Amino acid sequence: MAKIIAGIGSSHVPAIGAALDNGKTEEPYWKRVFSGFEKSQQWMRDTKPDVAIVVYNDHASAFSVEIIPTFALGCAAEFPPADEGWGPRPVPVVKGHPALASHIAQSVILDEFDLTICNKMEVDHGMTVPMNLLFGKIDKDSHWPCPVIPLAVNVVMYPPPTGHRCYMLGKAIRKAVESYPDDLRVVIFGTGGLSHQISGPRAGLINSKWDKTFLDNLSKNPQKLAKIPHVDYMREAGAEGIEMVMWLIMRGALDDKVDEVYRFYTVPASNTAVGHIILENHRRGGKTPARRKPAAGKLKHAAARAKIQRVRG
Ligand SMILES: [Fe+2]
Repeated sequence: MAKIIAGIGSSHVPAIGAALDNGKTEEPYWKRVFSGFEKSQQWMRDTKPDVAIVVYNDHASAFSVEIIPTFALGCAAEFPPADEGWGPRPVPVVKGHPALASHIAQSVILDEFDLTICNKMEVDHGMTVPMNLLFGKIDKDSHWPCPVIPLAVNVVMYPPPTGHRCYMLGKAIRKAVESYPDDLRVVIFGTGGLSHQISGPRAGLINSKWDKTFLDNLSKNPQKLAKIPHVDYMREAGAEGIEMVMWLIMRGALDDKVDEVYRFYTVPASNTAVGHIILENHRRGGKTPARRKPAAGKLKHAAARAKIQRVRG
């Protein structure tokens, strides 16, 4: 049986991708951001998921104002990086997992969540930047470490889905994954945000207090977040802060009680707040979410976990 072992929340600031692609990660401004993900990359190397589901939003790359699906699931065998105006990012083509994706589509749609099925789709920075932050920089002629199932969510044109709808969709995705017969260890990403507004009189808005409370509740009290209406995101986190509802899909797919193993928060990056969190499902029967291998691997994971310090900005 497949199972979701952990959830990852991460911003997807496009300038982070540009900094990575243009060799600026050691510049002091960007080093502050990238250094916050070094422990996360070690966690990912230790965890070695079989599949990742990445919840993200398209920025008029695969879709346009002509067609805007609320939830679009990538069921293709591969997803090329999109040309966002200056050529595709120099990252590998994302390889999908059509069998699991199709299984999720069937289960979730029959559970009355009306996903759009995408058998051809390009993916933009909304997906590839968080993947770089967790998997590291990977040459475009190489490959990502595991297959990825994209789930695109409309947060660019009103009305986006409610936080509650997202949270419940996460639960339906978990049910779908757990009814898949193969033994797959799955991680799920929620991406976007945190607080930011990129246009209008409030351009540049960042609300660190809101962001940190959001991260606290994401970890301990997600049901409270699921009740937040759109207008509160707009008022408190800025127009583009509505991207944060996507983190609730990730959270809905996890146990009610989770282990927060890492958190990072810094401002600003470009004109946004960068937030990041890793939540593991509770260990069952003393097993860790790390890949079960020899005892040495277990010890290595435990040592890595011991080194991880929770960063509370
Ligand atoms: Fe975005």
